[in-house]
Amino acid sequence: MTNGAPQLPLSGRVAFVTGAGQGLGAAIARGLAQAGARVALADIELPAVEAVASEIGGLALGLDVRDETAFGACFGGAVAHFGCVDIMVNNAARTPSTSLWDITPEEWDDVLAINLRGSFFGCRIAGRHMRERGEGRIVNLSSMAGQQASSATGVHYAASKAGLLALTRSFAQELAPHGVTVNALAPAAIRSPALGAMAPARQHALQAGIPLGRFGLAEEVAAAVVYLASPAAAFMTGATLDLNGGRFMR
Ligand SMILES: NC(=O)c1ccc[n+]([C@@H]2O[C@H](COP(=O)([O-])OP(=O)(O)OC[C@H]3O[C@@H](n4cnc5c(N)ncnc54)[C@H](O)[C@@H]3O)[C@@H](O)[C@H]2O)c1
Repeated sequence: MTNGAPQLPLSGRVAFVTGAGQGLGAAIARGLAQAGARVALADIELPAVEAVASEIGGLALGLDVRDETAFGACFGGAVAHFGCVDIMVNNAARTPSTSLWDITPEEWDDVLAINLRGSFFGCRIAGRHMRERGEGRIVNLSSMAGQQASSATGVHYAASKAGLLALTRSFAQELAPHGVTVNALAPAAIRSPALGAMAPARQHALQAGIPLGRFGLAEEVAAAVVYLASPAAAFMTGATLDLNGGRFMR
């Protein structure tokens, strides 16, 4: 502690967040910055991520997570800029709600390429860097759709998010001896622009199915990521943290 000011939980830490141009990724980047971290924000939509980065004094990077070579170069750019990356957040995703009867092979492949293969690249690229340093935190954004059947999102999305839980456990086991933790977050029923655009009657019906009686907030997802990245979560790895207002209890 200096000047009597309380130490922030992530001060001195560097975070890299994919899909940080909008939605939960932007909220997570803001939350990590508020917790004291310096943040690299990567997204396929460069102008969007530049706007969020300038708001929090972060580093904006253009990135398509489907391309492993580009991903490695982008991550390397963040390491060159900040000196290291301590916290990796694999958040970028595509969330179509196409009926399983209508999903084309191209759409299936693209959703898996972004949501699952992209996160695999993110875990592996960050994992190599963190393994060498002997410390690090990786957080993967899964979903309740990967734990339970849901008609709100497509089966390709659900499969990618279930796969991400398996990926999280495998990387957690592989990296545990090197001081790196890997955990997943499984949100659901989070308030979003898409939700706000729904008819009020539909929103009320959805809300009635949430035991806590309300939708979650993007800031609450960000707070869970900050926790998983903080010293307080040092003994947690390979875990899935549910954040769903009680919709799914196990
Ligand atoms: N919002 C929710 O209620 C909710 C619930 C459960 C899980 N999640 C998960 O949280 C994460 C964020 O969700 P969201 O609702 O904010 O999504 P979103 O669609 O609002 O944002 C996704 C971001 O990823 C970026 N992106 C897409 N393809 C990319 C690519 N190939 N390379 C790099 N960036 C790419 C987009 O440009 C966008 O900025 C996702 O992994 C999602 O599955 C969200």
